[in-house]
Amino acid sequence: MSAEKRVAVLVSGGGTNLQALIDAQSRGELTGGRLAAVVSSSADAFALQRAEKAQIPTYVLPRGDYSSNQAMTVALAELLQGLDIDLVVLAGFMHILTGEMIQAFPNAILNVHPALIPSFCGEGFYGLRVHRRALERGVKVTGATVHFVNEEPDGGPIILQKAVDVLEGDTPEALQRRVMEQAEWQLLPRAVSLFCQGRLRVEGRTVHILEGGSA
Ligand code: GAR
Repeated sequence: MSAEKRVAVLVSGGGTNLQALIDAQSRGELTGGRLAAVVSSSADAFALQRAEKAQIPTYVLPRGDYSSNQAMTVALAELLQGLDIDLVVLAGFMHILTGEMIQAFPNAILNVHPALIPSFCGEGFYGLRVHRRALERGVKVTGATVHFVNEEPDGGPIILQKAVDVLEGDTPEALQRRVMEQAEWQLLPRAVSLFCQGRLRVEGRTVHILEGGSA
């Protein structure tokens, strides 16, 4: 059995998906992996407090300190390589990473998106905006997706998806909460664990999930 994979989680805000990963780790469900770093693009992110409480080393790279997304991405990739990270997880990270990150971590970056890709995704679709657009469009089902990150925003190979019902009278906030509870917080730890066990095989746009022990 190979060594545990070192997982870095990138955050910008509340960090409930980070919390789901921390909780999964304490239940022993992040098979083959360990949360080794949390990196925030904002010093005020509540996610940093969650990481500190769980005794995970934290790093802050304020977006405002860099002249462009590219400059921030280069600094981020250097930091993560220096920490010997095997898997990068974008958990509510609100900036688009440029090619340097994808080259540094090929097929080793996961993102959680709060909709069923290819619906309500791509540039400009993040956080509550996604749920607002889903409600405006009148869909009856939405959900969440965990996917590999490539050069196309929200366009990388899909790992896991789960559907969630839209209910009469939903507000964007209510829908966001249901999608998190019923989909995101379950899918993200599962996808991380599958990756860390070496059970994801990418073939073109398709991700095959290989048989294994537990997950
Ligand atoms: C989550 O709903 C996540 O899917 C979304 O932001 C929220 C972050 O919440 N991400 C995106 O929209 C990325 N396109 P959290 O900080 O509580 O995990």
